[in-house]
Amino acid sequence: MKGIILAGGAGTRLYPITKIYSKQLTAIYDKPLIYYPLSTLMLGGIKDVLIISNDETIPLYQKLFNDGSQIGMNISYAVQAAPNGIAESFIIGEEFIGDDSVTLVLGDNIFYGKYDFFYRALQSHKKGGVIFAYQVTDPERYGIVQFDKEGKAISIEEKPKEPKSNFAVPGLYIYDNEVIEISKNLNPSGRGELEITDVNKTYLQRGDLMVEKIGRGVAWLDTGTPEALLQASNFFGVIEDRQGLKVACVEEIAYQKKFIDRTQFESLLDTIPKSQYKDYLINLLKE
Ligand code: DAU
Repeated sequence: MKGIILAGGAGTRLYPITKIYSKQLTAIYDKPLIYYPLSTLMLGGIKDVLIISNDETIPLYQKLFNDGSQIGMNISYAVQAAPNGIAESFIIGEEFIGDDSVTLVLGDNIFYGKYDFFYRALQSHKKGGVIFAYQVTDPERYGIVQFDKEGKAISIEEKPKEPKSNFAVPGLYIYDNEVIEISKNLNPSGRGELEITDVNKTYLQRGDLMVEKIGRGVAWLDTGTPEALLQASNFFGVIEDRQGLKVACVEEIAYQKKFIDRTQFESLLDTIPKSQYKDYLINLLKE
């Protein structure tokens, strides 16, 4: 299983925060936003990750993560020339994906809580696509999935004016290798983008799409507005302060999941400047 993080886009809604650098580099409490989706992939055991963004931002991500080897990963980078749509990820990432399956996570999507929904989906996925459904109060802002009485997904619409349900499709998608060909055959939508919703519709029409509902035990946080950024920061600030445990600390996850051993973890610590973040990591060695 390969992983892609799509972390570009125009970010215009967050101007002027995003005038200089991309949204996924803004801080959510004590770390850049992109740490959260990266940690999602890591928790799923995915080590080969491609980060896609615009040419101005790629060097900044490279500075953040290098080739990923310090956290036992293999991170590569690719440029998206313009925000031509989420499904373009699979065309840009064709060579990277090779003959494998792929999990795409949007660089501004945060998942917190019980990850069983994701582990189960990764384990059972063999063919087709797996997407998720999460109940929201503002369905007109998302891709929306409608279920029949038996709980079977029957339609998916992108940002419908009159939503047929309150179940949004979060930015976390698992696909087989067919996704590359499907994406290549899409036509741009009214807003000029290759829509991920059209990819999902194709799988749905083929009878090859699993839609898993994510329950109450999981927070899927939005980061689309200044208010949402503040709320997400407060959310993780409260949790980290209360428990003394960090969320989406990629160095910790790499160590706990044995992507790196103790010696590698110690060498990694040597590269981190004196900070509260480093103190936290040093403490992990004492456990
Ligand atoms: O957050 C989940 C939603 O994400 C889904 O429910 C929708 O079905 C899906 O279309 C998408 O909706 P948005 O309109 O909110 O996506 P947005 O254009 O904000 O892009 C999501 C992220 O991907 C954002 O961080 C920017 C990045 N992006 C987006 C596009 C279109 C790129 O890097 N390149 C792109 O071409």
